[in-house]
Amino acid sequence: MKDAAPQTIYLKDYKPFGWIIDDVHLTFRLHPTATRVISRIRFRPDYEVHDRPFMLHGEGLKHISAKVDGHEVTLNHVEGGIEVEVPHAPFNWEAEVEINPQANTALEGLYMSNGMYCTQCEAEGFRKITWYPDRPDVMAQFTVRIESDAEHTPVMLSNGNGLYYEQDNAQSPAPNISIYQDPWPKPAYLFALVAGDLVAHEDTFKTMSGKDVRLSIYVRPGDEHKCAFGMEALKKSMKWDEEVYGREYDLDEFNIVAVDDFNMGAMENKGLNIFNSSCVLASPETATDGNFERIEAIIAHEYFHNWTGNRITCRDWFQLCLKEGLTVFRDAQFTADMRSEPVKRIDDVLALRARQFPEDQGPLSHPVRPESFQEINNFYTATVYEKGAEVIGMLKTLVGDDAYAKALDLYFERHDGQACTIEDWIKVFEDSTGRDLTQFKLWYSQSGTPEVTVREEYEGDTFTLHLTQSSAPTPGQDVKAPQVIPVAVGLLNDNGDEVLPTKILELTEAEQSFSFKGHATRPIPSALRGFSAPVTLTQDIDNARRAFLLAHDTDPFNRWEAGRDLARDSLIGTIVKGTAPNPDYLSGLKTLLRDDRLDPAYRALMLGQPSQSELAGILHKQGHTADPAAIHAATETLRDAKAKAFADLLPDIYAANQVAGPFSPDAEPAGKRSLSNAALSLLTRLDGGEAAEKQYKSAGNMTLQLAAFGALLDAGKGENAVAAFYDQWKDDRLVIDKWFSMQVMFANPEDLATTVTTLTQHADFDWKNPNRFRAVMGVMAAHHAGFNHESGAAYKVLADWLIKLDPVNPQTTARMCSAFQTWKRYDANRQALLKAQLERIAGQDGLSRDTTEMVTRILEA
Ligand code: TRP
Ligand code: ZN
Repeated sequence: MKDAAPQTIYLKDYKPFGWIIDDVHLTFRLHPTATRVISRIRFRPDYEVHDRPFMLHGEGLKHISAKVDGHEVTLNHVEGGIEVEVPHAPFNWEAEVEINPQANTALEGLYMSNGMYCTQCEAEGFRKITWYPDRPDVMAQFTVRIESDAEHTPVMLSNGNGLYYEQDNAQSPAPNISIYQDPWPKPAYLFALVAGDLVAHEDTFKTMSGKDVRLSIYVRPGDEHKCAFGMEALKKSMKWDEEVYGREYDLDEFNIVAVDDFNMGAMENKGLNIFNSSCVLASPETATDGNFERIEAIIAHEYFHNWTGNRITCRDWFQLCLKEGLTVFRDAQFTADMRSEPVKRIDDVLALRARQFPEDQGPLSHPVRPESFQEINNFYTATVYEKGAEVIGMLKTLVGDDAYAKALDLYFERHDGQACTIEDWIKVFEDSTGRDLTQFKLWYSQSGTPEVTVREEYEGDTFTLHLTQSSAPTPGQDVKAPQVIPVAVGLLNDNGDEVLPTKILELTEAEQSFSFKGHATRPIPSALRGFSAPVTLTQDIDNARRAFLLAHDTDPFNRWEAGRDLARDSLIGTIVKGTAPNPDYLSGLKTLLRDDRLDPAYRALMLGQPSQSELAGILHKQGHTADPAAIHAATETLRDAKAKAFADLLPDIYAANQVAGPFSPDAEPAGKRSLSNAALSLLTRLDGGEAAEKQYKSAGNMTLQLAAFGALLDAGKGENAVAAFYDQWKDDRLVIDKWFSMQVMFANPEDLATTVTTLTQHADFDWKNPNRFRAVMGVMAAHHAGFNHESGAAYKVLADWLIKLDPVNPQTTARMCSAFQTWKRYDANRQALLKAQLERIAGQDGLSRDTTEMVTRILEA
């Protein structure tokens, strides 16, 4: 079956399985290289659809035996699994297979990480564990028995509730046994098993109906002191889901396990969430404020999946956004409630523009609900997750908060226990609001970023906004129909008072006008407030107007956006025409920075400016060829100009935002640290690193230490810190990831490839560990000027390593291929260099299906 032509799976071909499972019993006899998996499953025909062969998935399984109703059967091997002759009546399936967790470097199925057994089954990893209909629309109750030796695996966990737990004493030759029963039917992708030498950080939670839930975070011995924050985040999430969505937890225990080798952030397995250790472990000394916030959000995200994903799951993988878009939306609401709503919104829009826009405007563009794929793992994308969440936000904006809450109640009531589609989701909103959402549904099927333009007209006392929408062609979609775009607009007078509070204009046609009567003086519009739709906005306005909005807009998002637009146009002016940084931007920003009434976190965001990659994307869209060196120079010039213009202010801001007392990761002190660190970064351009040196030496937490480290590296004075940092943290893998990343991030563009190559020769460059690989290669690809250096050296370094990683871990390799998705932005020379590397990867013998699909899509469009 090797080298079979990659198969494309289509949404339109969906067919039900044909059988129903009553229950699943699994026994695991754990062994590092020869684990036995025994399955006993009761099947019965689904009489509505029992016209097809009985097919079970399976991949890389060593077959031991298979019986139907006690009789050994022969397996017909087919692509991706087996077909078996079975009776058209209920029957018992019993099979035994052997698998090798130690050899599993792909980190999918059952594998080992630092001597510990763990699983990752989403999307299609369960088929690497046993023969099974590995598809999300087959839901069943699981009972799992784990047998192992007590010495190496004193802790053995699976989904649901532990029935009992026996631990034999060390002398006993008898295996220890653990049995878990999950009362809730679930698809196989939510199956999980963990066994190892782990310690628990424990707590309890009383649910709204008064049930006590045992909560545990399991970690390797030595990491116990990094669990407290995650536990608090979990309890906050449980409470929030009760209060805001009325959703209560539904098992006696809830377990989280931290794993060092993991392809993504975390996984919502029923009652047994498994986390990349970087997304759960935190202490003030080792984690930054950004890490704390991210951990809180991911714990919430995985917990919220219990209802949006697990109790209501997806019919097939095309419906992935049904659970992911909704769950990202819910975790964003949670973070906004726990921290600052405007800051969270700005952070999310920054992430959307940094990751989703390039995807949607390049060769990998796909709809929020894709219609075909070769490898589903390639569709866990910013579009499915983040644009998927934006689509839910727009739906809520359009129907209103109360109608949204009612629709969600109906969704849970109607679909609990089911495997659903986007059609089911939309129908819930139609039924509960009476609204026709046919046109809205285009957000799920049309790819690309819509472009909205706004033109103003003022006549008599009537102010009119003329809006248009259009969408550039994307792969497979040349022409598009107009979508429903909620454009939030407020009107201001010359003093900055609101003369019309935020109103939602529903743009449904290619061109549409909205009039506002009774305005004796010409109002000033603030459009797309709160970034009410994932579109690009073109407004025919000048810098004076932007400066006015920067000073006065009553919508915090748009106020920030006005500054951002000024920065962007200033930078583009420098790149294209060589003009100096816009003085009005600098003075407007300065006024704002001084304003102590504004949240420090918000002011820190104000100090930011578009990234080099974002600028390259904008230039490309405007018809220019992006020149990475010129872009880099312009961003440096603007940062220097800021340092100079704010020279008198920076020491005060820095001093005023120092936080005294014991460390707290809460939003308020974290905001102060983000502002003082932003000030430090600019100050370093003036004092040559004096303040950074001081901060590095006195830092009592990682947020301050890392910022000072970065400032020193940026100033070219990081040599001592590089040695000291390593020495201090060599025993902490997560901090050493940062050590690698920082050196890559702050490398000179000319030296990036050699810096990276040197780092890959370091004894701690454990390239099979995805966190370590990404800490170096991911950060290299994000170093815009260095990665896109005209020599092409960094392109080659990345391609070499992707070729090396692909046979070991296809999933992580394929994801990182997206570093090449923007290749058409650049000049002919760079395009040729990029193309050559893509073709070299594509030409590898035995290249994984994952990576083949990615490089093919990137090359084709
Ligand atoms: N469903 C997970 C989440 O969004 C992410 C996930 C999908 C994942 N596939 C994975 C995690 C593979 C690890 C490995 O929370
Ligand atoms: Zn998720």
